[in-house]
Amino acid sequence: MAVTAIVGCQWGDEGKGKIVDLLSEPADFVGRYQGGPNAGHTVVHQGEETILHQIPSGILHPDVICLLGNGSVIDPRILFEEIDELERKGVKVAGRLFISHKAHLIMPYHRAIDEAAELAAGKGKIGTTGRGIGPAYTDKYQRCGVRIVDLLDRDHLEKKLRANLKDKNKLLRDYYHSTELDVKHILDEYLDFDKKADPYIKDVSVMLNDAIDLGKEVLLEGAQGTLLDVDHGTYPFVTSSNPTAGAAATGLGIGPRRINHVVGVMKAYTTRVGNGPFPTELAEPLQSDFRKWGGEYGATTGRARRCGWLDLVIGRYAARINGLDSWAITKLDVLSKLDEIKVCTSYRHKGKTIQHFPAEPWLLDEVEPVYETLPGWQEDITNIRRYRDLPNNCRSYLDFIQEQTNVPIGLISVGAEREAYVPLSVEALGLEKQ
Ligand code: GDP
Ligand code: IMO
Ligand code: MG
Repeated sequence: MAVTAIVGCQWGDEGKGKIVDLLSEPADFVGRYQGGPNAGHTVVHQGEETILHQIPSGILHPDVICLLGNGSVIDPRILFEEIDELERKGVKVAGRLFISHKAHLIMPYHRAIDEAAELAAGKGKIGTTGRGIGPAYTDKYQRCGVRIVDLLDRDHLEKKLRANLKDKNKLLRDYYHSTELDVKHILDEYLDFDKKADPYIKDVSVMLNDAIDLGKEVLLEGAQGTLLDVDHGTYPFVTSSNPTAGAAATGLGIGPRRINHVVGVMKAYTTRVGNGPFPTELAEPLQSDFRKWGGEYGATTGRARRCGWLDLVIGRYAARINGLDSWAITKLDVLSKLDEIKVCTSYRHKGKTIQHFPAEPWLLDEVEPVYETLPGWQEDITNIRRYRDLPNNCRSYLDFIQEQTNVPIGLISVGAEREAYVPLSVEALGLEKQ
C-alpha cells in the first residue's frame, strides 16, 4: 500500500491525466493538491475523451474517491459544469468527490483582473489561461481570499465581499478602465453554489489521513509542471502555485513522510503554452510537424503549444526538485517518424557549459542547447505492450534518459488510450507486482 505523488516535470501537459487515470486502477483515493481550472487533464478510455479541469483524473474509475485539497483554487461555475458533464456521461460524481473546506474560491473579480492585467501587459503578458488563477492565489497570500468555509455565514461573506470589491472595483475601474462588479450579484451566485456544494465539502485532511492509516492506495495528482512552479519554474512565466512534489503534502493536509513514491511525468519531447523562455524550441517547419504529430493544442484554451526537443537539463532539474523515484515517459509514439532525434544534455553560454537549470531569465533566453543526436525508429509503436518488442533505437533512447537523469523509467506511454502503455518497472512506480 502506498501514497504516490504524480508530478509534471516540464511546462505542463505532459500527460498527467493519462498517467493518473492509468495508475488509478488499483487506487482507493486520488487527490489534487494545487492549481485550478487552468489545468486540462485528458483521459481517453474506449475511444471517449474526457478533459478534466478541476476534478481528479481518477474519477472514471467507479470505486475511486476523488479529493480536491486545500491547496487548490476552485471556480464553482466550472466545477459544476464539469460535474454535470460527467454525470451526463454516466459517471457518478456525487458521493465520490470531496472538496476541502479550506480551499480558496476563484471569484468573478479574479477572472476579470486576470484578463484585464494580461490585456494591459500587451507584448509582455504571461499568456495565462485567463481563469483568474494568479489573482485568486494573490488574495490567498494577501489574506483576503474567500475560502469555502466563508460561505457558511451569509453576513460574514457579505462583509468580506464588500471589503474586497471596494478595492477590486477601484482597480478594475480606475486602473484597467474595465467594468465594475456588483456585490449582490456575486453574493447570490456564491450562496447558491454553497447549497449545491454542501454534500461535497469535507475536512479532506482528516479523510485522507484516516485512509492512509487504513493502508489505502492513494495517488496525489499535480497540475501544471515543475517549470511552471512559482518557486522553481521560469519565473515570472509561471503559474501561481507549487506543482512540485513538496506541495503535495501541504496542499492536501498530510505530513511529507506519508508520501512513499514520486513519479515524474515527462513527454518524450518538450512543449510549452504561453510565453517565456524555451531553450530547445524547434525552428519551422519541424515545430509545426511536431504540433501536428502530437496534436499539440491546449486542452483548456485550445492554444497551439510550442514544441521542442527533449531537454534533460530540465529532466535532471525536475528529478532533483521533486525527488523522483521513477519516470512515466509519455508520447513516445509521436517520435516514431524521425530519422534522428536530438536530446539536450547541457547548455552553453558565452563559452561556458551549464549543467544545472539556471534561474536567470536573461540566461535562459540566451543559452544554446548542447545536443546529442540519437538514431530514430520508423516503426509504429502504438500497439506495443512489452518492452522487449520495442525497436532497438527506441530502447536506446529510453536508456539514454535513464542514464542522464539517474532515474529509472517505470512506464512509457505510447498512445492516448488508457491501455496504450508499456510497463518497465512496476516497483519503480511504487506499485506491487501484479
Ligand atoms: P496533462 O495536462 O498533463 O494531463 O496533459 P494534457 O491532457 O493537457 O495533454 C496531453 C495530450 O496528449 C492529451 O491530448 C492526451 O490524450 C495525449 N496523450 C497522453 N499520452 C499520450 C501518448 O503516450 N501518446 C499520444 N499520442 N498522446 C498521448
Ligand atoms: P496542466 O495541468 C500547460 C501556463 C499558462 C501560462 C502560465 C500561467 O494541464 O498541465 P495561469 O493561468 O496558471 O496563471 O497561467 O501557466 N499553464 C499551463 N500550461 N498546462 C497547464 O496545466 C497549465 N496551467 C497553466 O499557459 O503560461
Ligand atoms: Mg493539460
